[in-house]
Amino acid sequence: MHTPKIAFICASLRNDSINRKLENSISRLFEERGAKTQIINLDEFHMPIFHGDLKTPASVKILTALLEKFDGIVITTPEYNGCLPPLLKNMIDWTSTESTNYIKNAVWGIASATPGPMSGIMCMRQLSFILSRLGGDVLSQQVGCGNASSALDREGNLIAQPALNFAKEMCEMMIRRINQKR
Ligand SMILES: Cc1cc2nc3c(=O)[nH]c(=O)nc-3n(C[C@H](O)[C@H](O)[C@H](O)COP(=O)(O)O)c2cc1C
Repeated sequence: MHTPKIAFICASLRNDSINRKLENSISRLFEERGAKTQIINLDEFHMPIFHGDLKTPASVKILTALLEKFDGIVITTPEYNGCLPPLLKNMIDWTSTESTNYIKNAVWGIASATPGPMSGIMCMRQLSFILSRLGGDVLSQQVGCGNASSALDREGNLIAQPALNFAKEMCEMMIRRINQKR
């Protein structure tokens, strides 16, 4: 039986990020279902704002090659002014100039936590469009987590509904899809 390898990317670098907390809680759901998980910290892959005259930074090459090793990738992202954060768009733009294989080969899950009730629906929609545009297999089940400050318990487990059911459904859908592809 194949053990699915799932990467997690959080598009907020903030120490107290609610999206990082959501990322940790979703990664535990994957582990409970037998997946091997790895958190990818974008703070370890600094890249300048994309500029077509710059040489591709080593961080971009290393990150692109690393992401090719995963069967599934889950992004948790804040929403900034109704859009995805520049950190995430910049990472996708840079790595896409190196190779889009990691996008085409992985099954993608999208999650977004916000302090307000709306749960980043606008940014999840844009991210889904971009990944699909690049050939990614994006799961229809996304994890919108509004009112995020009260969505997790003291141990960091996601407890709020409907976010918890969304997360379980996304997790099971991703593992099924990965197994079907093999
Ligand atoms: C520049 C900026 C724009 C924001 N725009 C939105 C927005 O459009 N929708 C929303 O729900 N929250 C918005 N927020 C609030 C973020 O959801 C909130 O800061 C959240 O905690 C960021 O995620 P993090 O805790 O993972 O860093 C914005 C925050 C910043 C800094």
